[in-house]
Order: sequence, then structure tokens, then C-alpha cells
Amino acid sequence: MALPTLKMFMINNGGFDLLAFVLCYFQVCWCVQGQLKVGFYSQTCPSAESIVTSLVKEATTVNPRIPAILLRLHFHDCFVEGCDGSILVDNVEDPERKAFANQGLDGFGEIETAKAQLEANCPGVVSCADIVALAARDAVNLSGGPFYQVETGRRDGRICNESLAAEIPDVNESIQVLKSKFMKKGLSDKELVLLSGAHTIGSTACFFMTTRLYNFNGKNVSDPSINPKFLEELKAKCPMNGDANLRIPLDNVSSQTFDGRIFRNIRAGFAVIASDARLYDDNITKRIVDSYLGGSSFLQDFPKAMVKMGQIGVKTGLMGEIRRKCNSFN
Ligand code: HEM
Ligand SMILES: *[C@@H]1O[C@H](CO)[C@@H](O)[C@H](O)[C@H]1NC(C)=O
Ligand SMILES: *[C@@H]1O[C@H](CO)[C@@H](O)[C@H](O)[C@H]1NC(C)=O
Ligand SMILES: *[C@@H]1O[C@H](CO)[C@@H](O)[C@H](O)[C@H]1NC(C)=O
Ligand SMILES: *[C@@H]1O[C@H](CO)[C@@H](O)[C@H](O)[C@H]1NC(C)=O
Ligand SMILES: *[C@@H]1O[C@H](CO)[C@@H](O)[C@H](O)[C@H]1NC(C)=O
Ligand SMILES: *[C@@H]1O[C@H](CO)[C@@H](O)[C@H](O)[C@H]1NC(C)=O
Repeated sequence: MALPTLKMFMINNGGFDLLAFVLCYFQVCWCVQGQLKVGFYSQTCPSAESIVTSLVKEATTVNPRIPAILLRLHFHDCFVEGCDGSILVDNVEDPERKAFANQGLDGFGEIETAKAQLEANCPGVVSCADIVALAARDAVNLSGGPFYQVETGRRDGRICNESLAAEIPDVNESIQVLKSKFMKKGLSDKELVLLSGAHTIGSTACFFMTTRLYNFNGKNVSDPSINPKFLEELKAKCPMNGDANLRIPLDNVSSQTFDGRIFRNIRAGFAVIASDARLYDDNITKRIVDSYLGGSSFLQDFPKAMVKMGQIGVKTGLMGEIRRKCNSFN
């Protein structure tokens, strides 16, 4: 912004020393602040991305749930203190992980394995936050979803506190609250819909279904937006006093394929978790869901929303640190 003024000042003075000074000043400034970019490690750790990709692939052959787990992990990382690997830290008194909304999160071992391999190849270079972002990208592609370029250059944060996790949306929040929690992170209603589309893969514990099935809005009823036949099915899979840890697919048709099927489910009353159903409570988000059922391309737009999510509150340049192990600060 100040650049044109400075330039004019330089021309008026005609001084080359000043020109050099200004250029140098801006370069240093740029280095200190830093910024995300695609291929940030192409010189410093050329194998970084392929190491993560092959580990995610390998882990998925052992446990088919891994892609969904890693995709969710990136979301939960970004919504607290920005995408800075804060969710990975487990050796502080009350870590983020303990928070209610983080129940069922996993993939920590896979991230740590990738980190160990990266440290062996290029010690102290690749941040844990970037590993999570890359793993989420690979998870999408591995599930048959679109491939996209991930910006890297995030640095790891030095704050991890359970109380900060309140910023993560809760399953049974209203559409107004969901919208405002996304808005606070710089994400639009459209991005709320697109990113909720991640639920086209993966599963939920019955734990997160109880309120929706048996105590909707604090009343002794089920969420009326559930298709009646589907409600019987969901109740059978997640009985009121059953095992809260049983898991059911988020997309009733193709829970291992990243296909955007979830939007058809939402329209038809087959959304599984409450927050997905809420997208149809509001005229604006409803219209956006409908646009992905005809006209707009979810698979084309989803990557853009992921890139945007991956920019939330990032630390770059000299901020934060590059952790040696992802589960603890240096
Ligand atoms: C709109 C707010 C959101 C809410 C309230 C929400 C809530 C949930 C809940 C309750 C689960 C089940 C967790 C479990 O039982 O393990 C879940 C799973 C999942 N979420 Fe979300 N989510 C939201 C947005 C997102 C976003 C933005 C992403 C990624 C871009 C995402 C990706 C996932 C994935 C992939 C799973 C499946 C995890 C697995 O299979 O283990 N979610 N979500
Ligand atoms: C994305 O996945 C496809 C298979 O679904 C694979 O052929 C392709 O190599 C992957 N892209 C990258 C860059 O990993
Ligand atoms: C975490 O946050 C709470 C509430 O803001 C605060 O009381 C506590 O001291 C924090 N813990 C750490 C370790 O910073
Ligand atoms: C929201 O859902 C969770 C999980 O089902 C439940 O434990 C919690 O009490 C619910 N909160 C409200 C306000 O209904
Ligand atoms: C809730 O509803 C169920 C049946 O729908 C009934 O059996 C139960 O007694 C009700 N509980 C309360 C506290 O009203
Ligand atoms: C799955 O959801 C679709 C709506 O998208 C519905 O038509 C279909 O009957 C459902 N299938 C099962 C097995 O619930
Ligand atoms: C949403 O649309 C419905 C019908 O199209 C209309 O009756 C309602 O007033 C709208 N609500 C808002 C908040 O705009």
C-alpha cells in the first residue's frame, strides 16, 4: 500500500542507494512475515509431499477409516488457533483434544509416523501443521475425490488449551450458530456448505446421534427433518441406551467415496448428523445445497474451500516453530 509513495519518493531523489535500501527492506520484511505457497518445501525437502502421500496410502490399506479421520483432523486443527498443529499436542494439562467436540478424533499416530520419516530426511524443516494439511488432501484424493495443490509453509503453534476448542462447531447447533462460527474464521455460507460436504465420507459414533434421535431441542422427540423410514433405521443402529461408541456411516450410500452424495441425502431427509440436516433449515444454505444438486460442481468447488480453510490463522515466516515431534512443543 505504501509502495507507490515510496517509489515516487525514490524517483524524486533519484538515489540508487535508496532504491537498494527499499528493495532490501521489503525483502527482509517478506522473509520475516512469510506466506503460504504451493511447493514451499521443493528446495528444502523435495520428498516431503511424496512421503506424506505414501504413508497415508499405506495407513489406509491397514485401516480404511484413515482418510476420513485425517480429513476431520485438519478441520479441527484449523478451527482452533489456526492451522498450526495445536490439536496434535498431548502433553499439556488440558489439551484441546480433551474437548467435547473433539471426541473420536484420531490419526495422531499416522501424523507422528510421517513426522518421524520427515525428520529423518530433512530434520527441522516440515511443520506438523503442513503434514496435517497434506494428509487431508491425500485423504480426499485417495477416496476418489479431486486432487488439489496444497499451500505449505505453515509453522507450528505454541498454544494448546482445551478451553479454546469452544470455537469448533457442535453437532446440535442451529444453522445461525454454525454460520457464525464459520464466519468468524473468514468462511462464507457457501464454504460452510462445501466443507460440510466432507461428510460424504466417514462415520459418526452413536454418541453424536443421541440428542438428534431422542432428545431433539431438549424435547423427548426425534429431529422431524429425518425421513421416517430412515429414522427407524438410525434408531435401530443407535438405540437410546445402546453402545455410544458404535459407528454409523455419514453417507448412507457411499461412505468411502468422496462423491458429494451427501447433498442428495440432505435434501431427502437422509442426513445422518444434525449439523448436515441444519443446512436445509436456512434459505441461503438450502439454496447452496440445491445448487450442488444441479448446476454447480461440488468436486470442483470443494478444493477451493479446503485451500481457504487451510489458510485460517496460519503462522508463517518466523512465527511459531517447527516441532521435532508433533505431540509436544519443542
Ligand atoms: C459444520 C460443522 C461440523 C460439525 C458440527 C461436524 C461434526 C462432526 C461429527 C459429530 C462427526 C462424527 C465424529 C465421530 O464420531 O468420530 C464428524 C465426522 C467427520 N467430519 Fe465433521 N463436522 C463439521 C464440519 C466438518 C468439516 C468442515 C470437515 C472437513 C472439511 C469435516 C470432516 C469430517 C469427517 C471426514 C468426518 C468423519 C470422521 C471419521 O469417519 O472418523 N467435518 N463431524
Ligand atoms: C489421485 O488419485 C488417483 C487415483 O484415484 C491417482 O491415480 C492419482 O495419482 C492421485 N493423484 C496424486 C497427485 O496423488
Ligand atoms: C487455558 O485457558 C484457561 C481459560 O482461558 C486458563 O484459565 C488456563 O490458564 C489456560 N491454561 C494454560 C495452560 O494456558
Ligand atoms: C449436543 O449433542 C451432544 C451429543 O449428542 C450432547 O451430549 C449434548 O448434550 C448436546 N447439547 C445440547 C445443548 O443439546
Ligand atoms: C419419551 O418418549 C418415550 C416414547 O416416545 C416414552 O417411552 C418415554 O417415557 C418418554 N420420556 C419422558 C421423560 O417423557
Ligand atoms: C439413502 O439415501 C437416499 C437419499 O439420498 C434414499 O433415497 C435411500 O433410500 C437411502 N438408502 C438407505 C439404505 O437408507
Ligand atoms: C424462506 O423461504 C420461505 C419460503 O420460500 C419463506 O416463507 C421464509 O420467509 C423465508 N425465510 C427467510 C428467513 O427468509
